[in-house]
Amino acid sequence: MQEMILILDFGSQYTQLIGRRVRELNVYSEIHPWDKCPEITPNIKGVILSGSPFSVRDEKSPKPNLEEIKGKLPLLGVCFGAQFMAQNFGGEVMPSKIREYGRAHLSYVDKENILTRGMSDDSQVWMSHGDTIKTVPSNYNIIASTHDVEVAGYEIEGETTFGIQFHPEVYHSTEGLTLLRNFVVDICGCSQSWTPTSFVEETVAELQTKLGNDKVILGLSGGVDSSVAAMLLHKAIGSNLHCIFVNNGLLRKNEFDSVLDSYKHLGLNVKGVDASQQFYSALSGLSDPEAKRKAIGKVFIDVFEEESGKVEDAKWLGQGTIYPDVIESVSATGGPSATIKSHHNVGGLPDYMKLELVEPLRLLFKDEVRRVGKAMELPQDILGRHPFPGPGLGIRILGEVTAEKVRILQEVDHIFIQGLKDEGLYDEVWQAGAILLPVQSVGVMGDERTYENAVALRAVSSTDGMTADWVHLPYEFLARTSNKIINGVKGINRVTYDISSKPPATIEWE
Ligand code: XMP
Repeated sequence: MQEMILILDFGSQYTQLIGRRVRELNVYSEIHPWDKCPEITPNIKGVILSGSPFSVRDEKSPKPNLEEIKGKLPLLGVCFGAQFMAQNFGGEVMPSKIREYGRAHLSYVDKENILTRGMSDDSQVWMSHGDTIKTVPSNYNIIASTHDVEVAGYEIEGETTFGIQFHPEVYHSTEGLTLLRNFVVDICGCSQSWTPTSFVEETVAELQTKLGNDKVILGLSGGVDSSVAAMLLHKAIGSNLHCIFVNNGLLRKNEFDSVLDSYKHLGLNVKGVDASQQFYSALSGLSDPEAKRKAIGKVFIDVFEEESGKVEDAKWLGQGTIYPDVIESVSATGGPSATIKSHHNVGGLPDYMKLELVEPLRLLFKDEVRRVGKAMELPQDILGRHPFPGPGLGIRILGEVTAEKVRILQEVDHIFIQGLKDEGLYDEVWQAGAILLPVQSVGVMGDERTYENAVALRAVSSTDGMTADWVHLPYEFLARTSNKIINGVKGINRVTYDISSKPPATIEWE
């Protein structure tokens, strides 16, 4: 069984980062809610307790049962995790006089200690807490302090149990990775053998056992996740994987043909289905964003159902679901968050399709999906591609969608994206695109008055799409792009650049 580090989540915003950092050390990790701790099997080499929005002093705060873990396995408590182990075993946790958020520097670090060795005296660490550990039981040794917090780190004598008040998983803790390495390698004894290549080999073997001679259907979107999932399945079962790539008429300029072409070059068994007209008919007369999304989703399912019905005896539906969608996060409020846009809550195909799900990426973070894709030699133009919404240009044409508006927006988008690529800016941007506004304005071209449409350009930086900032693209680049668009695309006489961040705006306009 795969050796791993178990991370128990108490709802901290940084829990996923702990998982990623451990995996950056080529050690597999899994995140589970603290109250759904899996059985402690021998492959679990150590446990990390995350931070939490709760205070340990709060009556309703999580109270994990560590009986099977503490003193038996290496254990590291981070922030809340450290405070819990201090308070619960006889120490004292009090509200801090000043809430400590952000940068702090160590004033003392035990360089002999197995957890903190290799860290420097003045090491910068990242704090995010409103409580402080005031006293610890007598068998706890302090191994790190900051100017404001005496117990910034401790070990428990006679156990491989540690607590740290700061967040080693955050990039701003400049030597945090050293500490995590000390924990997972030197203390837990993990072998650091989990690599993208080993993941590919193991996953392909598992898929072969699971699927045998069964047929799998998979909907390709041109994006990273579905492409990497398809390649893994292709390696495992070859032509028993039937990929379907639907042209909804809302893709980027030339995208359907060029992506289909690269899939074929990869050897994938893929069928391209041009259903553009069906989508345009369904969208006719609709201008409400949610109504458009629903219409696009419905036609997609109809087309997919019809095409998959042509594959006899298919048993499985392949999907590119990734780990952040799977992790059951611990919510501080207990309730589901409000629906902002429907795509965040909808998923998959109707139950009656009776296909079982196979999701080879369900344990990977996005950056790992890219690394796995690279290990399988997927082309960079697929791996480095910006995220693109399922309803495509349909939600970037504000108001009613028509074939003519799609054509105009495709031209504008193409000029913008090609410009970003030509000027080496594409990879610095997380996502970019153009929006066709339902606004006409007066212009002058030559001696003639024009009354044409306006477009907005949008380029954002982000890590996960949850928050985003607009990218400060060079003025000269924006000037050149605007010129090319207005001179090159009939129907557009005004270009604007969107300088809103998320929140409070969203990335897409609809
Ligand atoms: P928002 O606009 O919510 O977008 O800030 C966040 C990310 O989600 C993408 N997005 C969608 N993806 N179907 C999708 O598959 C949709 O309906 C949809 N709406 C937004 C958006 O492009 C961004 O990456």
